[in-house]
Amino acid sequence: MTAVYPGSFDPVTLGHLDIIKRASRLYERLIVAVLNNSSKDQVFTAEERTGMITELCVGLSNVEVASFSGLLADFVRANKASVVIRGLRAVTDFEYEFQMALTNRSLHDEIETVFLPASLQYLYLSSSVAKEVFMLGGNVDSMLPPEVEKRMRLKTKQNQYNIKR
Ligand code: PNS
Repeated sequence: MTAVYPGSFDPVTLGHLDIIKRASRLYERLIVAVLNNSSKDQVFTAEERTGMITELCVGLSNVEVASFSGLLADFVRANKASVVIRGLRAVTDFEYEFQMALTNRSLHDEIETVFLPASLQYLYLSSSVAKEVFMLGGNVDSMLPPEVEKRMRLKTKQNQYNIKR
């Protein structure tokens, strides 16, 4: 069975990687689907985000990484998958996640969403929290893979993103 783990992943966090690893044990094939959005606020392009996740998942032989635009439900069907994986942290995630799950199933009724509870050490973690801590000069070792932190630093140097440190 193929599952899709979609997200913005800007950037991918240790919490996302934890979900990827756990979901890859549950399904024969897992596609990490990176939303290709053109928001001005994003730090990394879809290509950069996809590339980083691909590098971080080299050891996981049943994991593929792709980017998508348009409807997630269409991407899931086009890839002959029927499961969408989402990580759940707190009750506050629930309403949005529930709405998304029902929307995707109303679009294509073969799509089921499976929620994996975040591991305890990542309950508080999100890409936005990691970005904010990084921007303000805090330690992000427990939030981001070292490779991602390095790329964030490069972005700062290249002045491609307005990170104040
Ligand atoms: O990491 P995020 O930002 O919480 O991920 C959200 C994502 C990418 C899963 C969601 O925005 C999405 O599926 N976008 C694609 C557009 C779509 O299918 N919208 C209808 C379902 S709400």
